[in-house]
Parts: sequence; structure tokens; C-alpha cells
Amino acid sequence: MNAGVYRARRAQLRAAVDGGAILILGNNDAPKNYVDNAYPFRQDSHFLYYAGISETGMAALIAPDGRDTLYGRPHDPDDLVWHGPRPHVGDHAAAGGFAEHRAVAELGPDLRELAGAGVRVHYLPPYRAERRFQLAELLGGDPRAVDGGVSAELVRAVCAQRLIKSRDEVAEIEDALAVTAEMYRVAMGAARPGRAEYEVAGLMQARALELGRREAFTPIVTVRGEVLHNHSCDNTLADGDLMLVDSGAESPLFYASDITRTFPVNGRFSDRQRRIYEIVLAAQMAVINAASPAHDNKQMHLLAARTIAGGLTDLGLMKGNPDDAVAAGAHALFFPHGIGHMMGLDVHDMEDLGDIVGYPEGEQRSSQFGLGFLRMTRQLEPGFVITVEPGIYFIPALIDQWRAENRHAEFIDYDAIEGYKGFGGIRIEDDLLITADGARVLGPGIPKTIDEVEAACRDSND
Ligand code: GLY
Ligand code: MN
Ligand code: MN
Repeated sequence: MNAGVYRARRAQLRAAVDGGAILILGNNDAPKNYVDNAYPFRQDSHFLYYAGISETGMAALIAPDGRDTLYGRPHDPDDLVWHGPRPHVGDHAAAGGFAEHRAVAELGPDLRELAGAGVRVHYLPPYRAERRFQLAELLGGDPRAVDGGVSAELVRAVCAQRLIKSRDEVAEIEDALAVTAEMYRVAMGAARPGRAEYEVAGLMQARALELGRREAFTPIVTVRGEVLHNHSCDNTLADGDLMLVDSGAESPLFYASDITRTFPVNGRFSDRQRRIYEIVLAAQMAVINAASPAHDNKQMHLLAARTIAGGLTDLGLMKGNPDDAVAAGAHALFFPHGIGHMMGLDVHDMEDLGDIVGYPEGEQRSSQFGLGFLRMTRQLEPGFVITVEPGIYFIPALIDQWRAENRHAEFIDYDAIEGYKGFGGIRIEDDLLITADGARVLGPGIPKTIDEVEAACRDSND
């Protein structure tokens, strides 16, 4: 994006925060096991949004009068040897539309001068421990006081601004999704009995790298899809298994994509897998078709939950009235997580800012198991990009626990679900743009119906 975009974003932020200076810190390298062996660098998303620069050791300061300064490491002649020719801080400042640029060593003295003149320095909550120390050092305070000094006003302003995606931001997300579609084409073709999960994970990552992209988050690539955050991928795929893959590439400007598909390792869904898959798909399509600014995301979550409860009742795994079952929270045995979350520069967009992203101010999360994991209840607005990701899982330990407590026994047929232990889990996830009167699934389309998925598995297995 051009310099004017970043300048305009900072001006909008300046106007939304009443007085004071606004500090947006970039990230530094994060050491893995010693300082020079760092995790792959990922810039802070707020810094990317307001400055657009993916480089370590930077900060942006927006003065009370709107004058904005970019701070960065001064040019070191040794850099030429170790890092090759790189843009100087002045080049970055020009690219990001900053009026001024200074050496990052000046940031602390400049901030303390502002503080000395009685100017408040607004900053965002630190999500890396080192950031707490950095802020304490820069502002001349105690690290234990840093969290208490976070600017709620700045948090609100950043959140309000980043929630609504521009056309260019949506284009970035769709660009990421085009790569993600390629990764899923590879995965569906690669899965077959005898292969290891890590082989499929590796082939997907390789496809992203071949296309010059990285993954937006640590993927889930597993036949044990009922373990919701299963990041190990050591299992061997077996005939009859379902493979659940939750993955997504990052765009050139670091926007995320977030897709889940579940597909049969042997290329054909069994009748039982097919029946559960159709319920999950119906829940996802119900939300996709209903989503619009006329609804809030809690309504979307409950719509998916009722579709799932209805489907499982028809199958004989649940009983009673599905609406009553959902009101009681009984469906959460099978669908324990939320229907989705905001997505943008972060896969869970702005989660570092807390529940303010997904919840209207003052609204607390539900204390009900399942509903309490919903990351967003907000009224939908044009320009939101959200995920829609219902699932049905058979979690043996949870089934045993609920059964022992006779929990929601009026809505759950515990005898009928015994035979489903070992089934695994099915989730289907897409990324949705909320429009003026509805919603649009982003991306080029990734096989999703049973026929499409089986064809994709077959095609690449030929
Ligand atoms: N990939 C993380 C999620 O679906 O929320
Ligand atoms: Mn996901
Ligand atoms: Mn997601």
C-alpha cells in the first residue's frame, strides 16, 4: 500500500485519541534458544497497519499535533557484510509517509521529554514479556506498572479502525486464500493410508513456500481432529480415518487466511462420516446464508448450534427439542468452541487487545461451557472479515465425563454415542466478508461439498 494509506490511517487514529502522544512499537527478533538463533521474524500487526514496515527495532510516534516520527536502527556499515544492502530508516520513513525519522536510541529521551512536559504517552498492551521491560525503560517506570498504564482510549480507537477492512485489505486476504487453496489441493491429494501427518503438513508448507508465502499460524494437520488444538502431527494415516486440516497462508502484506477442511484419508467418506459431515456443512451454510449486518455473531453461533443439535437429534445421538438443548448448552458436548472470530492481519484479529474486539463494551463472556469460548458476539458490520467454523467432535474423555455426571441426559443419548468414540472430528471453516446486505465467502473456493472433496482426493490420488 502506498505511503498515503499509512499516513491517513495514522491521521485517523490521531483524531480518535484525545490528546497525548501515541506510541506504536514494532517487534524485535525473538530468541529461540540463544539471541542469534531467533524465531522467524513477524512484525507487530498494529505496526504493520500504521507503518507498513516489516523490520526489527522500529517504533512510530504520533505527536499531539499529528507530526509523526519513525524511529529505527541507524545504518551500521557491518550490516553490508551480514545482511547485504538494506533500506535505511529514512527510506522506510518515506515508504510509510512519515514526516520525520530518528535513531531508535532517541526514542526513550524523546518520550521522557514529552512526559516531563506533561504529555501522556498512549500505548497498547504488551503481549511479549520483553515489551513490558522495553516500555518501562522507555518511559522510565517500573515493568510491573506497565500493564496498568495501557491506554484504554488507544485500544478502543485502534480496534474500531482495524475492525473494518478496506478493499485493499480484503484483496490481501483473498491473495492469501489463493495460496491456501493450493495448499489444500496438495493436502487432499497427498493424504492416503500409510502416510504420516507430518508428510501432509510438510507438503502443504512446501507449497506455500514455493509460492513465496509463509503460514499465518501453526497449522493443525491430524487424524485426531477431536483434539481441538492438536499441533503434533506424528500419527500415521489409516484407512477409514478422517483428516482435519486447519491452515492458512499469509499474504505479501502479512494478512491471514484461515481455512479448515476435513477429508477421508482413503478418498471416500463412509456413510457414518457422510452423515456427520452433512450436518456440519448444513450448520456452516446456514450461517453463511444468514450472515448480514442485521445479525450479531452470537445469533450466528446459536444458529450453527441449533443446526447441529437438530441434525444430531435426527440421527438419534441427541433427543428432545433441539432449541431447548442449545439453550441448556447440551450441544457443546459435540460443538464445544465458538462459531468464529475476526480475521485480518492476525488470524484472531487483534486478540492482543482482548475481548473488546469481539464483545460490545460491558458484555461479559457467558459462563456456559461452549458458549463461553465464543470469541465474538458483536453486531456484524459491513467490512468485517470473520471466520465461520462449526464442527462436530467425539471427544471420548468428555463423553465419559458428562456421562458419569449424567449431564444433560434429557438431550443426549449416551448409549448411541458410545460407538462414535474414535470417530474423530469434523470442522469446516471459511472466511467471510460482511457486506451491506449479506456476506461473501472470500477466496477462490476450496472443495467443500462431499462430492467436491471426494473428487479432489481422487484427482490427486490418480
Ligand atoms: N486456525 C485457528 C482458528 O481456526 O481459530
Ligand atoms: Mn482455523
Ligand atoms: Mn479460525
